[in-house]
Amino acid sequence: MVFLSLVVATILVDVVLSDPLHIPIVKRTKVKTVESYANAAEKLRYKYGFKSNSSRKRGNTSPVAITDEQNDSSYSGVVGIGTPAQIFSVVLDTGSSDLWVGSTSCLTCSVNAPAFDPSQSSTLKLASGGSSQVHIIYGSGTVQGGLATDTVSLGGFSVAPQTFLVVDETSANLFTDGVSGIMGLGFESLAATKALPFWESLANNNQFSSPEMSFYLARLVDQAQTEEAPGGVLILGGTNSSLYQGQIDFVNMPDGVSPSYWWQQVNKVTVQGNTVGISTGTTSYAAIDTGTTLVGGPSTDVKSIWAEITGSQALSPTGQYAGMYSYPCSIDVQVTISFGSNSWPINTADMNLGELGNGQCLGGIFDLTAGSDAGTGQGNPGWVVGDTFLKNVYSVFRSNPPSVGFAQLADGLSASSGTSGSNPAQITQTSDPLPSVSGSSGSNASSAPPTVNAMSSLYLTLFATLVLALSLLR
Ligand SMILES: *[C@@H]1O[C@H](CO)[C@@H](O)[C@H](O)[C@H]1NC(C)=O
Ligand SMILES: *[C@@H]1O[C@H](CO)[C@@H](O)[C@H](O)[C@H]1NC(C)=O
Ligand SMILES: *[C@@H]1O[C@H](CO)[C@@H](O)[C@H](O)[C@H]1NC(C)=O
Ligand SMILES: *[C@@H]1O[C@H](CO)[C@@H](O)[C@H](O)[C@H]1NC(C)=O
Repeated sequence: MVFLSLVVATILVDVVLSDPLHIPIVKRTKVKTVESYANAAEKLRYKYGFKSNSSRKRGNTSPVAITDEQNDSSYSGVVGIGTPAQIFSVVLDTGSSDLWVGSTSCLTCSVNAPAFDPSQSSTLKLASGGSSQVHIIYGSGTVQGGLATDTVSLGGFSVAPQTFLVVDETSANLFTDGVSGIMGLGFESLAATKALPFWESLANNNQFSSPEMSFYLARLVDQAQTEEAPGGVLILGGTNSSLYQGQIDFVNMPDGVSPSYWWQQVNKVTVQGNTVGISTGTTSYAAIDTGTTLVGGPSTDVKSIWAEITGSQALSPTGQYAGMYSYPCSIDVQVTISFGSNSWPINTADMNLGELGNGQCLGGIFDLTAGSDAGTGQGNPGWVVGDTFLKNVYSVFRSNPPSVGFAQLADGLSASSGTSGSNPAQITQTSDPLPSVSGSSGSNASSAPPTVNAMSSLYLTLFATLVLALSLLR
């Protein structure tokens, strides 16, 4: 059991809003020395308003610049932790509810990302005792560390004290360069640390002009880019009407489900215009998850989806691509997913994760059960609807009433060629063994498996949904 031994008596919520934050370009150069980290950190403290000369004023919405990491693999924002603020890029993750950053004593954390130095914060309080150690299990890895409280800022908002995890160990390849941790934007009941999430403390204290967090996630997978690029914007406490058009279609969480993940029910899926038979009941419940790169679904449903694509193949359940499917790169895979009464199309570019070889490309929808430790049932979602879908909409996470809204993006945002494979995610050459093809849903089932001459390093695909051990469905 995780027991929070820290006394979190009063939560002081303070809004430090400096000059309006536009969508600044966040493009880090490779910084290698401790000194250059310090300089870069100082600049960023000013840039993001963690240190500011401007007079304090109250504000109740604040934009947070989002960085697109590694061709839409994950989307991060910059948090400040401690006094003076140490700054970190963290994945903005609606699929989990804990905040953590790697510490200077973490040997397994990302080497090219700043680490939190507990000795350099005058406001840090470390928890003590055995119960202060927490282990968090995500769909694509684990972290562990010690509980602490400190001042935490994101956008123009600060919470002090905020409980978070100072991580000293992570599983391999959880992250790519530049990212130091995760900011969970799910509900408190999902928190392994048992701490009230940053956003929820702001919402509970009426710091938001409306109880909403809204995302525009840029699509860069079909454009030439560097490792990190401006990747959209998160608005804390509201929406920005310049980023979407038409109405926001809010759909309440399914009946009988208490908020933990941002639950929605998948009502319908179409592929190439055809409606696919999918599971009903709790199996159709989805976590809407900005922290996961792809879309994962129930085995049978995902199989049915790919069955609509001639020449698609399930990749080996024992290999690196467990749960994933390949399909002929020449096909534009057109998928729509319905929540409530609206159907939202996924751009064909988002369905194509790159060529595996022999004209076969890796598909953006995978079998959640085969592809991760997150089995369905027992409170885990049947679907995890990640960035592959979310890049295509303006998404609004509203805590009261608990609901998620989608709207059409404003013209000119995420403009895409709409064709697959124009510039897919990079496939890194490795000497890994080739995946074998375990089955086929296409018409060429008996042909030889594709010869894979290039391999994707799939650690670039983040699956930051918290994996539950107990049922949260009531
Ligand atoms: C803040 O104010 C101090 C003193 O007025 C000044 O020296 C410093 O350059 C200012 N910093 C910024 C970022 O404006
Ligand atoms: C809303 O977004 C537009 C377009 O990015 C931007 O110019 C504007 O400053 C934003 N408004 C607010 C209040 O953040
Ligand atoms: C992202 O895509 C660009 C263009 O295809 C490619 O040059 C780059 O190496 C890719 N980066 C990663 C991390 O895959
Ligand atoms: C099946 O595979 C063969 C050889 O790889 C190819 O020539 C043929 O066009 C394929 N048929 C279909 C229907 O994809």
